[in-house]
Amino acid sequence: MNNESKIRRWLDERYNLSLIEHFAEEKKVPHFRGSFWYYFGGVSLFLFIVQVVTGILLLMYYQPGAQTAYESVRFIVTKVQFGWLIRSIHSWSANLMILSVIIHMFSVYFTKAFRRPRELTWFSGFLLLALSLTFGFSGYLLPWNTLSYFATKVGTEIVGVLPVIGKPIMEVLRNGSDVTTATLTRFYGLHVAVLPAIFTVVLGVHLLFIQVQGISEPESWKDLPESKKNHIPFFPNFVLRDVLLWLIVLNVLAILAVYFPWELGHKADPFAPAPMGIRPEWYFLFMFQSLKFFPAKILSMDGEVLGISLFGVAGLFWFLVPFWDSKTPKGARNKVINYIGIGVVLYIIVLTVIGAR
Ligand code: HEM
Repeated sequence: MNNESKIRRWLDERYNLSLIEHFAEEKKVPHFRGSFWYYFGGVSLFLFIVQVVTGILLLMYYQPGAQTAYESVRFIVTKVQFGWLIRSIHSWSANLMILSVIIHMFSVYFTKAFRRPRELTWFSGFLLLALSLTFGFSGYLLPWNTLSYFATKVGTEIVGVLPVIGKPIMEVLRNGSDVTTATLTRFYGLHVAVLPAIFTVVLGVHLLFIQVQGISEPESWKDLPESKKNHIPFFPNFVLRDVLLWLIVLNVLAILAVYFPWELGHKADPFAPAPMGIRPEWYFLFMFQSLKFFPAKILSMDGEVLGISLFGVAGLFWFLVPFWDSKTPKGARNKVINYIGIGVVLYIIVLTVIGAR
């Protein structure tokens, strides 16, 4: 018996490996024309792993604090071997991850994979999106440069306009009444400890639900006999396709990070006036731009407060889609969902483009 089979037998006696093998052999994934969209969950997972690995490396040198945050990032990008590359990959991968999560969410929406029995997979996914956005918002401040400082000031100010709850939330976020190094310390703690811990647990639950229920079949298969449905084995076929796509994403990431290294900009000066045209990261731009279009007063209500409340209600509706979708009258069900989805996608794209100009 060679060494490999000895190790195998040793493990098998203790952990019943054949059970896992059997599970992997049995597991099948639907294969049809639109199944390309199934791969974005896996791409999001890959980019999250990249974030964890590069984030840990950055943590070896980063120091939060008024006199150290910007300086330590400058040290990373100028003095540490390959530090510029790691920082560039971390920043690009953060943006690609959020893009991939958004694409994944819309594919799940349009393939109606949120329907019974996958309501909880949708809810846990929604939470992952919210956590990803919070990751982005908290990480943005850490280099303590002009752009990140003022964008955080504006971003937290927006929350502060809400009546009653606005100001306390803003003060909790800022760790005081203004954006200071106390805010930096809070965002740092959130970014490197609290968020990774919560994210990992929610991600584990999300993946567990998917393992238990399997990936959903397309709607068009509803009335098809089993013999007409096309499946591919999860292992090795689906996994190999996943890995191939991960390699392509890794290459895209490398090209972006090397040819468009992430800029550091100038150190934040809290006493300087805010530079012109301060705007948030692209994924918040559609909301930011919408608020700009709102008139100062609508009837007797503050326009901004109304705008933020409307986004809150819209977000709640989106979160609860597995419930209201099933209440749509029969026949009209798919169309209504599709029209709403197309409207939301167009709205986000158009306002993001206007906001980016
Ligand atoms: C970092 C964030 C996320 C990761 C890593 C992730 C990962 C995955 C993976 C690997 C799958 C299986 C393959 C696939 O169907 O694509 C999946 C399925 C699923 N995800 Fe996510 N996901 C994330 C965010 C989200 C979001 C934001 C939503 C929706 C709000 C969501 C809802 C779902 C649903 C309902 C399924 C089941 C799809 C089906 O059975 O066809 N996920 N996710």
